Amino acid sequence: RIRSVDHLSQAGAFSLQDLPFAPDLAMIDASMSIQITTKTTASSLSRTEFLIVFAKQGSKVRLPKGVVLPANSLDAFKGHAREIRVTDAQRGNAKRVLLVGVGASGDIAEESLRRIAAMVSRQAGQTGSRSASVWIDLPFGRKSAGVGQAIAEGLIMGSYRLSEFKSQAQPAGLKRHVIYAGKEFNEGVRRGYAIGTANLLARRLQDTPANLMRPRDLVREARRLASASPKITCRAHDEKAMARMSMGSLLSVSRGSSEPAYLIHMVYKPTKQPRKKVCLVGKGLTFDSGGISLKPSGKMHEMKYDMSGGAAVLGVFHALAKLNPDVEVHGLVPASENLPDGKANKPGDLVKASNGLTIEVLNTDAEGRLILADALAYAAKKIKPDAMIDLATLTGAVVVALGHELSGVMGNNRDLIDELVASGEATGEGVWALPILDYHKEQMQGSVGDLRNISGPETGAGSCTAGAFLSYFTGDIPWAHLDIAGMAFSKYGGALNSGGATGYGVRLLN
Ligand code: BES
Ligand code: MN
Ligand code: ZN
Repeated sequence: RIRSVDHLSQAGAFSLQDLPFAPDLAMIDASMSIQITTKTTASSLSRTEFLIVFAKQGSKVRLPKGVVLPANSLDAFKGHAREIRVTDAQRGNAKRVLLVGVGASGDIAEESLRRIAAMVSRQAGQTGSRSASVWIDLPFGRKSAGVGQAIAEGLIMGSYRLSEFKSQAQPAGLKRHVIYAGKEFNEGVRRGYAIGTANLLARRLQDTPANLMRPRDLVREARRLASASPKITCRAHDEKAMARMSMGSLLSVSRGSSEPAYLIHMVYKPTKQPRKKVCLVGKGLTFDSGGISLKPSGKMHEMKYDMSGGAAVLGVFHALAKLNPDVEVHGLVPASENLPDGKANKPGDLVKASNGLTIEVLNTDAEGRLILADALAYAAKKIKPDAMIDLATLTGAVVVALGHELSGVMGNNRDLIDELVASGEATGEGVWALPILDYHKEQMQGSVGDLRNISGPETGAGSCTAGAFLSYFTGDIPWAHLDIAGMAFSKYGGALNSGGATGYGVRLLN
């Protein structure tokens, strides 16, 4: 099922395992071996270090049998939505108990539950605990599956650690969870498990330093996903294959690097007849120095995260294998480095994309759109999906516009954009629509070539003009572009992560 057309397996090519400081891959996998068991509240509570109990406003707190809290420990605890109380248990199978209020009608937002579960999981893990349990003896009605999903996602996302690269052993984080709740929660827990572990995979790929997460390493990870599921195949086009397909735009970006570029093409095929065919495209710049238009050094190290769109696509595939939707999904990850070199793109160089358009590379740091151009043209010509969505850490301008709470979505199809905004609201991965005007498209017209890869300084709207550039390569396929530059990683962290990669896009697109 794995067709390779590259030279990774040839003698002489060195791999991650050959590096003297390479992490033990088995250990990385172990960091993802998380278990969630579901039981009903009719069963008795097994011994646990941390117990999370949901409490409704106006009703008595319903604890598992045998668990006794100290007198007065619930004084003034009302059960308001997001109200929290931690206490040591006096008796019973739980060491510590965290009460979480859900309001009078259980109207607490799923995102709040997700964040609370993540904070508990993270903090309990830091104290050396290995397991947490959740007790939900409340009716959530139609919302039950969503509640189960949010809690499972939160518990897993909060357990993320990047400890593979430390020489000293680190606290491992919570690995085992038991959720006691009605059966109507279980389907959600199953989804939350699939999506939560997919989020961890994306974050591990993102956080891994760029010398260990090169284009070839993304290829290896994509193949690993394919070999783990009979429903997923993976093909990696190497530079020769891309040259045959005339992908001069993509290939111009990797010319300055000694690491070859790849176009990864994964396919998920459901067992049932697929309802639709969709294509996800993720920018996979494993390091963006800017090239000859070199970036300032201050934050350049953050550009290992310039493959976050690609990481999200791999994460989505990890979840697809478990969720089995009846949709055919294609995943494209153009993977490359962007480095300065004697062979690198120079400002003003002319390149030709596979759809025939010529592009003046006026700024070698606007490289994401150059690799996406050929990937989108490939999707439009060879895959012809019913819809396609690209994710890219494309512009610093989107961080100015929307900050770190929302990604920007643009495209050629109002329905697709609306669906993504709605999915953002439902999943907690926020999305806000930005325009692509004809005016923005005009600003990308070249003087020597058909297009230029940056607009003039007088135009502004850097995220919109970047989207406008991409629109020249999508043919007539319904398409949306997510600019995730402000969402892919975070300096300070939040409830769901402690700084670093976020795995943004995995929840949204699933
Ligand atoms: N990868 C960067 C965008 C980026 C910036 C991602 C900050 C994450 C955080 C992209 O390749 C880039 O360099 N964009 C340029 C475009 C400009 C030259 C038109 C930018 O935003 O400055
Ligand atoms: Mn750049
Ligand atoms: Zn970039």
